[in-house]
Amino acid sequence: MEQFKKIGVLTSGGDSPGMNAAIRAVVRAGIQNGLEVMGIRRGYMGMIEGDIVPLNSQSVSGIIQRGGTIIFTARCKEFFEYDGRKRAYDQLMKSGIQAVIAIGGDGTFTGATIMSKEFDMPFIGIPGTIDNDLFGTDYTIGYDTALNTVVEAVDKIRDTASSHGRIFFVEVMGREAGFLAIRSGIACGAEAIMIPEEKGQFDKLRDLMAKRVEKRKSSIIIVAEGEEEGGATSLAKRIQQEFPELSIRTTILGHIQRGGNPSAFDRVTASRMGAAAVDALLDDQKSIMVGIVNNEIVHVPLNKSVKMHKDINRELLKLMEIIR
Ligand code: F6P
Repeated sequence: MEQFKKIGVLTSGGDSPGMNAAIRAVVRAGIQNGLEVMGIRRGYMGMIEGDIVPLNSQSVSGIIQRGGTIIFTARCKEFFEYDGRKRAYDQLMKSGIQAVIAIGGDGTFTGATIMSKEFDMPFIGIPGTIDNDLFGTDYTIGYDTALNTVVEAVDKIRDTASSHGRIFFVEVMGREAGFLAIRSGIACGAEAIMIPEEKGQFDKLRDLMAKRVEKRKSSIIIVAEGEEEGGATSLAKRIQQEFPELSIRTTILGHIQRGGNPSAFDRVTASRMGAAAVDALLDDQKSIMVGIVNNEIVHVPLNKSVKMHKDINRELLKLMEIIR
């Protein structure tokens, strides 16, 4: 077993609330185990450019409650190319980094899987994305906070929607996944949800709207940005054309979903996953993601977490139909 002395931690792709709590746990668990921990800033971009700084217990003090990521993040095209990854590897060697803990989503793990194979570099992934779309873990860091942000916003929209008897299309994030839309839809008592995983949902929505016209009642439709009609704006336009008598408004929640203080749930999840990632490295694991399933820490092969599709919970979809 290789005895690591120095490891790197990075955050990459879309930030998510709780990433700081994970960084803090990696640094503190690393130090407890006699490791030096380096922060690779701006994800793979900083790895390529050698933007690497030492982190100690003090540098991660006072961050558990903060959204965003203190080591910054980026989406890095250069890392898709071999040349970019080679430059990144050279920088790791120069800094003496022997293994990397990468916090992010599927893009982050795809890069990690390739680089770990090409250069025999151990990578441990920590799932951090508000989308909750990673196979092998019940929850990703940031999902719970984003969910609560959506619920708070939609509750406010509901007040004005019902006062005016209006139809509101509320767009939430999720280019490829409807996890945020489904749970927020249930939590807010939405009348309908539109998600990328389901096809041919428009006809059902039209039927629902026809009933709304009769009853003159307000409705909240939660729309995941990646649904097949192209999101809340296009859906609202189509429905307005079909039912000119309806008063329709659209709200795109956007990046407020990615910010804010992490919920207690996300802080605890992130802290557990951060410490578990260090444990995994010390147990000589390579190319795995740490996840939480049924409240227990699990290890999932990194390539599996990317290749396998995480299914939406059909039971929740059914529930939606019953209680709306
Ligand atoms: O993957 C997280 C996510 O927030 C998606 O839900 C969203 O589609 C995307 O990132 C937005 O990315 P960006 O901030 O780069 O526009």
